[in-house]
Amino acid sequence: MEEMGFRQRQGSLQGWLTAVVRLLCLLSACSMVATARELRANAYPGVQLTVQNNQVVMDNGIVEVTFSNPEGAVAGIKFSGIDNLLEARNSENTRGYWDIVWNRPEETSKFTRIEGTTFEVVANTDDVVEVSFVSRWSHSSASYLAPLIIDKRFVMRRGSSGFYGYAVFEHPKGWPDLDVGEARIAFKLNGQKFHYMAISDTRQRVMPTAADRASGHELDYQEAVLLTNASNAHIEGEVDDKYQYSCENQENKVHGWISNDPPVGFWMITPSHESHCAGPVKQDLTSHVGPTTLNVFYSNHYAGKDVYMSFRNGEAWKKVYGPFMIYVNSASPEDDESKLWADAKGKMLEETASWPYDFISSKDYPSAAGRGTVGGQLSVQDRYMENGDMPANSAYVGLAAPGEVGSWQTNTKGYQFWTRADENGSFEIKNVRPGVYGLYAWVPGFMGDYLYHRNVTVKPGSKIELPGLVFSPPRFGPTLWEIGIPDRTAAEFYVPLPNPWLMNKVFRNDTGERFRQYGLWDQYSELYPKNDLVYTVGVDNYRRDWFFAHVTRNIGNSTYVPTTWRIDFHLQDVNFRGTYRLQMAVASSTHSHISIRVNGQPVSSTGRFGYDNAIARHGIHGLYWMFSFDMPGSRLRRGTNSVYLAQSSSARLPFEGVMYDYIRFEGPPRTR
Ligand SMILES: *[C@@H]1O[C@H](CO)[C@@H](O)[C@H](O)[C@H]1NC(C)=O
Ligand SMILES: *[C@@H]1O[C@H](CO)[C@@H](O)[C@H](O)[C@H]1NC(C)=O
Ligand SMILES: *[C@@H]1O[C@H](CO)[C@@H](O)[C@H](O)[C@H]1NC(C)=O
Ligand SMILES: *[C@@H]1O[C@H](CO)[C@@H](O)[C@H](O)[C@H]1NC(C)=O
Ligand SMILES: *[C@@H]1O[C@H](CO)[C@@H](O)[C@H](O)[C@H]1NC(C)=O
Repeated sequence: MEEMGFRQRQGSLQGWLTAVVRLLCLLSACSMVATARELRANAYPGVQLTVQNNQVVMDNGIVEVTFSNPEGAVAGIKFSGIDNLLEARNSENTRGYWDIVWNRPEETSKFTRIEGTTFEVVANTDDVVEVSFVSRWSHSSASYLAPLIIDKRFVMRRGSSGFYGYAVFEHPKGWPDLDVGEARIAFKLNGQKFHYMAISDTRQRVMPTAADRASGHELDYQEAVLLTNASNAHIEGEVDDKYQYSCENQENKVHGWISNDPPVGFWMITPSHESHCAGPVKQDLTSHVGPTTLNVFYSNHYAGKDVYMSFRNGEAWKKVYGPFMIYVNSASPEDDESKLWADAKGKMLEETASWPYDFISSKDYPSAAGRGTVGGQLSVQDRYMENGDMPANSAYVGLAAPGEVGSWQTNTKGYQFWTRADENGSFEIKNVRPGVYGLYAWVPGFMGDYLYHRNVTVKPGSKIELPGLVFSPPRFGPTLWEIGIPDRTAAEFYVPLPNPWLMNKVFRNDTGERFRQYGLWDQYSELYPKNDLVYTVGVDNYRRDWFFAHVTRNIGNSTYVPTTWRIDFHLQDVNFRGTYRLQMAVASSTHSHISIRVNGQPVSSTGRFGYDNAIARHGIHGLYWMFSFDMPGSRLRRGTNSVYLAQSSSARLPFEGVMYDYIRFEGPPRTR
């Protein structure tokens, strides 16, 4: 349906116009979209662009957006009786801005707001206005600018309650070496108006203010604050930490803030994740106390230095981040927040359905006709589970830069296109930009990663069909026992209730999001004050008896020591000449090094691995790792055996450790 008909019904003028449009629609049976479009065009004024020396203003009669010129920061958003939805107490260039964290090799990293030096009008019709602010490195700016060309674009459409933004980042061939740690756009909202934050159906409420955080008590790291002097009695004594509001890229579709006087919402809508880094389950920040709303296109949160973006030897690179939409809506005073949130979700669905957009002027953003489709069917072959192939039910299937198995999860420079297969393993990936890709997949319920053995080349209009793809997950011999579910998270293990004095009450105890509470890692020391966790196969239940994170133990005085977990299991028979295998899938690791012993004797170790910090960031998973350890049958015995998982890193911090995904012990392969 037409964008305007349903969404922007709240504003007084626009509501009236919409009512007229809908009435006329009804009278003319409204079956012809073209008719509705014409009516829309007539009903709403054309977009006006005003360019002044130090300001550029776009106005479509619904919303008016002011940019600093030529810096290209969003300095003002006027809507529904509020002069500025952004924080006018901040300077013009620190209200709505793109920024990066970057360094030249051997330098420390720095945070830089991207400020344009040239302004250009790209499109200027009644229907759409697009403007460009370009920041360009040169030898004379070498000390304070990253060696990049960054073209920040903003777009406004007739009759649309909001505006669009995107940026084209380029590292031209031959330019100096560069490391980038983060690339995002941030909006600092009007702190006197926006108090209620909504990022999902369950995570929403009146939030602390920036002053509440400033007068609170810092916990184990500066982002986590205990609110000891909150302006709002409801949140006194709670914990606030912006990482509690993170989500996976695939869930990051709409989030933002609500003012109740007047009732107005400000929303970041992300219709596609093709330009976000590191795939669909990479997590990142959304909105948080400030009030702040972000779109983080690239960062190493929940991944660490394994996803750092580096340019060496004059590598040429270009990437379009976005477009995203800033949507604003309003309601009547008697409505509560749920109305604005529901409307924002509806708008998100509309924007997602109209992807790729047909009103973007950059030649670097292909329209629908300039893209292709890749479909196929994937099945799983594991003869220890079933003789025949099994459908890759609900598999994640994606296209990303060519690379090794699983390399998509650290790929940051390219675009990624993901979908979920149906119950039969059939998938279709639409709107793929032209390019050469690897086809990657993983299947919930199975360990490991799939990579198609050939590259997939997508051209404009391509319709590629890849039937008969077969994934053989890691498998050595029959399963003797297993712990957990191979789903790349630790969510199914024992996640304790938070300490009552360290709660964020936005998370209900009964939802699957309890892992986002602060300080859960410390409960390991309370549950296991002297002796470490022992898990007895066949007796214990991993949902109750396997702590979600293998962390260090607090022995008092801020001293943390490594821990060793033990798995006891019974073997009736042992093939003393055979080989057994321990398969270990890990959902997150931070400065860990797990040594494996069996019945007291060393077997192997992971070596030091992982920097994702997902335990401290309440992530329940970070990057995925897969290990296989062989054990000679001569180390085993009939009766009770024990496998030890020992942290051998020198532990310093409370949240260093691993979150296991799934552990499986396999016997010697069947001989045929
Ligand atoms: C507590 O908050 C009030 C304002 O709400 C402020 O005046 C006071 O200084 C704060 N106290 C501390 C210890 O920060
Ligand atoms: C999966 O295959 C079965 C059998 O061919 C079919 O009945 C079913 O509709 C298929 N499911 C989907 C989602 O297409
Ligand atoms: C896939 O493409 C990459 C980059 O273009 C290339 O290095 C690699 O050899 C290709 N792989 C195959 C299997 O063709
Ligand atoms: C959730 O658990 C905490 C204990 O950590 C308890 O204090 C609180 O009352 C519980 N909330 C609900 C709604 O059950
Ligand atoms: C903790 O540290 C203090 C000061 O360093 C010391 O006096 C005390 O004995 C320590 N306590 C323990 C249990 O180690």
